[in-house]
Amino acid sequence: MSAQNIILIGPMGSGKSTIGQLIASRLNREFYDSDYFIEEKTGVDIPRIFDVEGENGFRARETKALEELTRMHNLVIATGGGSVLKRENRQLLKSSGFIIFLDTSVNQQMERLKHDKKRPLLQTENPRQKLETLFTERKPLYLELADLRIRTDRKFARKVAAEIIAQLPRTLTQQAKT
Ligand code: S3P
Repeated sequence: MSAQNIILIGPMGSGKSTIGQLIASRLNREFYDSDYFIEEKTGVDIPRIFDVEGENGFRARETKALEELTRMHNLVIATGGGSVLKRENRQLLKSSGFIIFLDTSVNQQMERLKHDKKRPLLQTENPRQKLETLFTERKPLYLELADLRIRTDRKFARKVAAEIIAQLPRTLTQQAKT
């Protein structure tokens, strides 16, 4: 039986939390979202952390959260879109489980995030441009880390979750919650 975590990476609006929860419930695993984990620990939301501590402060908290989460086993973990930026984070993620990259076009991200107020990086005049820049910078890192890459455009979350489960190694699908 494997103690590996199942880890979702990918840009904002790729569906990591929704799909992660579906996978967790299908595989009878605990689900954690690293942003939510940070919010629970600090008692404030992500925009507030960016306001008070800046992006660097948030990134330090994100690394701490990933350290804690990757010490646990048999979880499904949804990460923040920028969690792949630091080498340290990439090593933590890589050593703790099977990594799935939810590959999503900027058009699809825009569609899902057009009314979003909770992503500080998108509170700019041109969120599309920002998403494009971020994706160009980060895509090589997502690809470097991924054990499995799934395209999510125009697919329902349930379909993506089912596709992922069908492609997971057997050792990961047989794990029961203790
Ligand atoms: C970020 C993505 C967000 C959150 C923060 C920064 C990023 O998470 O961690 O706003 O740098 O891409 P989601 O990918 O869950 O939206």
